[in-house]
Amino acid sequence: MRKILSLVTAFVILFIHFNYGNISKVKGLETETHIIITVNETNFDAVLYDTESAKTFLSMLPMTIEMNELNSNEKYHYLDKTLPTSSESVGQIHTGDLMLYGNSCVVLFYKDFKTSYSYTKLGYITDTTDLQNTLGTGNVTVTYSKVSNDGFVLNDDSSLTISDKYIYGDLFLKADETEVLSQFKNNSIHIEKTGKKIGTGSKLVLIENNTVTSELTVVIFGDVNGDGECDAQDAVIVSCIVFGLISLSDLNEEYRIAADCNQDGNIDKSDSSLLIETGLKLKEISQTPTQTEEKSDILVVYFSATGTTETIANYAAAALSADIYEIEAEVPYTAADLAYYTGCRADKEQSDPTARPAISGSVDNMSQYKTILLGYPIWHGQAPKIIYTFLESYDLSGKTIIPFCTSHSSGIGSSATNLHSLAPNSQWNSGRRFANGTSEAQIVSWLQALTLISTEKFKRW
Ligand SMILES: Cc1cc2nc3c(=O)[nH]c(=O)nc-3n(C[C@H](O)[C@H](O)[C@H](O)COP(=O)(O)O)c2cc1C
Repeated sequence: MRKILSLVTAFVILFIHFNYGNISKVKGLETETHIIITVNETNFDAVLYDTESAKTFLSMLPMTIEMNELNSNEKYHYLDKTLPTSSESVGQIHTGDLMLYGNSCVVLFYKDFKTSYSYTKLGYITDTTDLQNTLGTGNVTVTYSKVSNDGFVLNDDSSLTISDKYIYGDLFLKADETEVLSQFKNNSIHIEKTGKKIGTGSKLVLIENNTVTSELTVVIFGDVNGDGECDAQDAVIVSCIVFGLISLSDLNEEYRIAADCNQDGNIDKSDSSLLIETGLKLKEISQTPTQTEEKSDILVVYFSATGTTETIANYAAAALSADIYEIEAEVPYTAADLAYYTGCRADKEQSDPTARPAISGSVDNMSQYKTILLGYPIWHGQAPKIIYTFLESYDLSGKTIIPFCTSHSSGIGSSATNLHSLAPNSQWNSGRRFANGTSEAQIVSWLQALTLISTEKFKRW
């Protein structure tokens, strides 16, 4: 009887809806990309433009750089990587402008003045009060950080993890509200609890000017009823799911994620057993949202000189819970090596049919994998020659290879079909090109279309 009562209580908690009193939700802010620029512990909010250059810059964050003083009006730093450019004669410089000089020099201006130089605009600081004083007169260390999920910024040492619209972490089980809030750089966060404690389904709400600008939903693996504990009540709910007494479609996604206690992609007996066996001790299971139990038979392999392909590869590996391997050149590519159409190293390799740049390291156990997603940037319409080196280094017979690429504007063209002869006994799927800035959701749709993400298997994304 007590179990039934507990179950009823659990259901009541599961279907609680929240409202935020007089605070109204605003739309539209999501369209702007904000970053935080930190100088001497002072945070400046900045907006990035919706351009390829700014997106590439964003993909490189977080980044701490030493910026050099110049002309008493700007701080500059040459990056190791080049960014796409759309240089223009800007005429007027405004305090707080963040620009790119050439293709790799980031410049932060702290005075208004006219200029005859050309720059690629990256973004601007929204409130420049005290910027000049804070930057000082000499060289200065500046940190550029991404603003996660429309405004939530975790401290560097936070034990919480933000992913998509959720926030994970065992801190919720151990700590009080104040300790949770101290994990954030922003202090305008409000917690809407599911019960007495912060539990799965609780909301972390970012409030600016009395308005909710965004929110994150708490997920605690094993806390399926949202009471902030992992106990027998949760075990009963997971058992009901396993035996089909509760349909997954009746549960909000955060509770489904929490019910997959061991994060192996399935809600099954292993989850209910884990809860029953360990009971309250489940508090000790890791709350990092990418645990996998089984060995993956999918390997995401990629080469990326400036991070664009890497972002796509990371999305794919996360969505598939697959292993990931980065092809790294024995002699790394410098910015000068990548300055295409200048006769640079990359230009020379691409025009030399015999070029096979050496790879540093290797895949540990290639025989484990049945499917390989192979990602690369387009270089002069083709895959970089280091991809040729990779394909010639392994016996890939019988494996399915799925090529994907990123480029400034070119399609995948013949770049993938020209690789077939290098692994002639593999099953080659047709490839796909992605633009810089492709979202995680787009990658998931692609993987679903390839049926690599099974519809039977519950996945978090
Ligand atoms: C040597 C070289 C040649 C390139 N050739 C092309 C090209 O033919 N077409 C194109 O659209 N982009 C071209 N690009 C741009 C890259 O394909 C694009 O920036 C890509 O997304 C970079 O990926 P990565 O950041 O993973 O290295 C070239 C870049 C380099 C360095």
